Amino acid sequence: MNAPKHTYAEMYPELGTGPVSTESAVSKEFFEQEREKIFRHQWFSLLKRDSDIPNPGDYFVREIEIVGVSVLVIRGDDNQIRAFHNSCTHRGNRLVHDDRGCTVGMQCDFHGWTYDRQGELAYVTDEEQFYDLDKSELGMPKIHLDIWRGFLFVNFDEMPDQSLETAMGDFNQDLSPFAFDDLECIGRYRYQVDANWKTTMNAFQEGYHVAFVHKRSAPDAFTGDDNPYCHIPKIKLQDNGNQSLAVPAAPEHKLSPTEELAFKFGSTFTQGIGNTEICPGTWQGEAENWGFDLNIIFPFSRINVGAGWCYVDAFWPIAQDKTIYELAYYFPKPVKPSQMISQEFSKIVLRDLSREDLATNEVTHSALMARSIDKLQLSDQEIAVRHLYKTVTARVAG
Ligand code: FES
Ligand SMILES: [Fe+2]
Repeated sequence: MNAPKHTYAEMYPELGTGPVSTESAVSKEFFEQEREKIFRHQWFSLLKRDSDIPNPGDYFVREIEIVGVSVLVIRGDDNQIRAFHNSCTHRGNRLVHDDRGCTVGMQCDFHGWTYDRQGELAYVTDEEQFYDLDKSELGMPKIHLDIWRGFLFVNFDEMPDQSLETAMGDFNQDLSPFAFDDLECIGRYRYQVDANWKTTMNAFQEGYHVAFVHKRSAPDAFTGDDNPYCHIPKIKLQDNGNQSLAVPAAPEHKLSPTEELAFKFGSTFTQGIGNTEICPGTWQGEAENWGFDLNIIFPFSRINVGAGWCYVDAFWPIAQDKTIYELAYYFPKPVKPSQMISQEFSKIVLRDLSREDLATNEVTHSALMARSIDKLQLSDQEIAVRHLYKTVTARVAG
């Protein structure tokens, strides 16, 4: 018998190999510490690109429950994209109630104060009744927004302790060359899960589950005789908590008739290694039987890239036992109906796979809450799970 291979433990010996405590997933106090020490200081992906709001006045609103803030992101007349608290500086009423749209400005529906597309306070109703009001000081309260390769990120710190570029770490070299600009959003999904955010994310951080959880939706796309347990061919763990995992594709994968048709008109999610397109910014060519890459931006945002497509997702913590999982697909702009059908195929496949991943979360979380188990036994293939717990615990302790 061959000696067991513990490739990743050898690459990252500082992570150890022992069982990992589940305390950080079940403790409400720990969650509050995560909120204070991590979530209030990190850059979060809004799962949107600058091209999603291409024209002056285009906006969207996003509730960031973990910090209790409603965020308005709007493109100004100067073409700059800005983020604000979606709140009126008179007495705090919510300014914009729609999810998205295009507007000439924002008028508060409480007493009628009006803001322009740059967030400046433009008009105060019955202004003479106020005392020394300085409108130039009363624009909508700003939130730090930065853009990385077209993706919009926000940070709720008063003064972020690091730039978005610094937070992206090795992704500045590794992921940056990917052709994101050719892609547009073709769909979104959002799910609420009754589980801790780390437990939820863990189901997406290894390939060990694939042969079991995805046996119906992907019986042979990622596993086969040569790799029955979907061993991950390449993993990179960054000191700042970021992670990359290459998901393998099975060479003997047989395309179903629908998939074959879809693949004819564009790159698809489960096409296996059949793709020959060159994809800079991925591990194609470096990872054996490359399928696609998962790229995690600590703590819970991801930009996952495949052969000419990407999907971005996030595991938004809502409470210690509640998480919102949201994903958005970006594919090349379809110019023919056949390409739309092809992309629809990928969209549905990934939706089904994600649902299967999420299906394990709530029962797992209940077992942890009941203290049925209080430790996770993690294999070498689950090192990204171990790395997440280690990074979070170290941040909270620091
Ligand atoms: S709260 Fe907005 S105008 Fe009064
Ligand atoms: Fe999965």
